[in-house]
Amino acid sequence: MTRILSGIKPTGAPHLGNYFGMMKPAIEWQERGEAFYFIADYHALTTVQDPAALRENSRAVALDFLACGLDPAKAVLFRQSDVPEHTELTWLLSCVTPMPMLENCHAYKDHLAKSKTPNVGLFAYPVLMAADIMLYDSNIVPVGRDQKQHVEVTRDIAATMNRLYGEGLFTIPEPSILPQVATVTGLDGRKMSKSYDNTIGLFEDEKPLRKKIMAIVTDSTPVEAPKDPEKSGIVALYRLFAGEADVAKMESDFRAGGTGYGDFKKRLFEAMWEYFRPMRQRRAEFAADPATVDGIVKAAGERARAVAVGTMERVRKAVGLR
Ligand code: TRP
Repeated sequence: MTRILSGIKPTGAPHLGNYFGMMKPAIEWQERGEAFYFIADYHALTTVQDPAALRENSRAVALDFLACGLDPAKAVLFRQSDVPEHTELTWLLSCVTPMPMLENCHAYKDHLAKSKTPNVGLFAYPVLMAADIMLYDSNIVPVGRDQKQHVEVTRDIAATMNRLYGEGLFTIPEPSILPQVATVTGLDGRKMSKSYDNTIGLFEDEKPLRKKIMAIVTDSTPVEAPKDPEKSGIVALYRLFAGEADVAKMESDFRAGGTGYGDFKKRLFEAMWEYFRPMRQRRAEFAADPATVDGIVKAAGERARAVAVGTMERVRKAVGLR
């Protein structure tokens, strides 16, 4: 059976980039194999040092995932730190990972470029991620494009472990990246990312959401003038939510001229608001029942841990710790 695994960092409320890049594909994959999805709280510690925020964000991720259609009867939705074997495997993998491979990873390089001092956790982040993936012998890893490099590092580390300790010790995973949603455009036209502060949350309240969308950066083309839909962040976002006919209508209205950006933004808001309506409803139901959400995550943690414990027994023997 195909094993699918992915993780999401609880560093804030999930945004559209997280949703289309990872959550939506992950929810679709739950129908096609044995899916393990986790709240990457160990990963979050590389940047979050506020305990209350970490706790709250971890809960919010579970809630949002369930609201968006993750079915706990099909997918195992667990919290990374409920399975401490992630950290143990990280150590074993660290001991075969060349530093230059990590020095080449973009999250670390970006950090250096901003003249920030990276901590060891941030530097070693891709090794923890490799452990996440390898612990479950995952075949498929649905991720956004920004994580492709990390999955390649994982493949490299898995191959090294197999060479050193026996072919077949670890499964070599494949990333799964949906090309049409690989990059979601942010409010400023750049890729949507928390670090650019240009995100749109899935479940923002109506007023602030409307305000955000109305503030999407546009050029100064006058209302009467024709506009190029291919260059517009509004159209790019609209395509994620609207049906084919509505998208075609917006594109032709762009080209025809006579419609201002404000009008297009209103259409975008309406489409997004409708799209998330059923999920908002489910989210409210789960939010009213936090014990159920906690119970789902806890039970999943036990299922995940059973797999991880099995892997670690095998791996401790293979490397000579037992
Ligand atoms: N690094 C991923 C991100 O920032 C989250 C993540 C952690 C992950 N471990 C993973 C994704 C394992 C896939 C598989 O989004």
